Amino acid sequence: MRLAVFDTHRYDRDALEKANARFGHTLTFFEPRLTLQTAPLAEGFPAVCSFVNDKVDAATLEVLAKGGVRLVATRSAGYNHVDLEAAQRLDIRVARVPEYSPHAVAEHAVTLVLSLNRHIARAFSRVRDWNFSLDGLVGFDLAGKTVGVVGTGRIGRVAARIFRGFGCQVLCYDVAPDAAFERELGVRYVPLEELFSSSDVISLHVPLTPGTRHMVDAAALARMKKGVVLVNTGRGALIDSRALLGALKSGHLGGAGLDVYEEEEGIFFQDLSGQVLQDDVLARLLTFPNVLVTSHQAFLTHEALGNIAETTLANVRSFEHGEPMQNEVRAEQVLRAPTASR
Ligand code: NAI
Repeated sequence: MRLAVFDTHRYDRDALEKANARFGHTLTFFEPRLTLQTAPLAEGFPAVCSFVNDKVDAATLEVLAKGGVRLVATRSAGYNHVDLEAAQRLDIRVARVPEYSPHAVAEHAVTLVLSLNRHIARAFSRVRDWNFSLDGLVGFDLAGKTVGVVGTGRIGRVAARIFRGFGCQVLCYDVAPDAAFERELGVRYVPLEELFSSSDVISLHVPLTPGTRHMVDAAALARMKKGVVLVNTGRGALIDSRALLGALKSGHLGGAGLDVYEEEEGIFFQDLSGQVLQDDVLARLLTFPNVLVTSHQAFLTHEALGNIAETTLANVRSFEHGEPMQNEVRAEQVLRAPTASR
């Protein structure tokens, strides 16, 4: 099938071309993100392939539908960038990659915790400047600390296991707690407010839904222990970034590790060096010595890219052959959980 692949970088292209040797689709790569402005590029293609910072809203979908697109195959687990109701109305089907490597994302979350706690970024720049002093680089032992894992799906579970391996107590919060997992791993499900107030480290692994948007707001941050390390590899809007700035400026937060950012669309995945950064909140976040931002790279391992390519191309093949699409997402499936209890 002819597939228009948007927001492609070298690493996507390599993985998709390699996997496509087994599928034989005709792939056309476009560098720009899929938005209302770029959607006309897909005219005449029955299927498009999108990524997390594309804007597949109702207006974009209307242009795609007029151009003959019948399938949006997103190369991501999250699908909050696609308006599922509009897609259904326009008879466009949507498929995703529900699991590609929970290890990649969980390991990146742990990397952020370790790097922040042991000040690795600062230490790296210091020694390259022949500054071998240790002042300001004191961290803490993770062993014996309490880690709060918010969301115990595929990724949260792997993160919880790693933290247990470090000898941490792990508190979990999920709308659907799993008693067997709790027993097996020796973790404890608690209400969200208890997780916030008792944890030394907090890692977010829930999807972005109306119920989870800004689950970390000013009130939640105030409830957290002074010195807490907060890590977000879920979606940017789980955290109210302005409230986060406040908690960082007051010194309440020990550190923030952000692989995702509320307004990352149009910024992350791009080389903007040499340009003036227009996002004042992000610019301010980047000034703190105890903030580590990565550009939505938690998924970026060889294993994950290979699995993403395989599943995406298999989704397209199922669609092409009129087979049931195992990884289809439909509007009624979206979990409209109530605002997380605090
Ligand atoms: P999953 O679907 O396996 O797990 C999500 C968990 O969150 C489930 O256990 C669910 O019950 C829980 N949940 C949903 N709504 C909730 C609420 N309101 N309150 C509490 N718990 C709630 O998803 P998975 O694979 O673990 O991924 C989690 C998220 O990580 C994805 O939705 C995606 O946004 C993000 N992600 C980020 C990546 C990155 O590169 N930074 C890569 C892959 C995923």
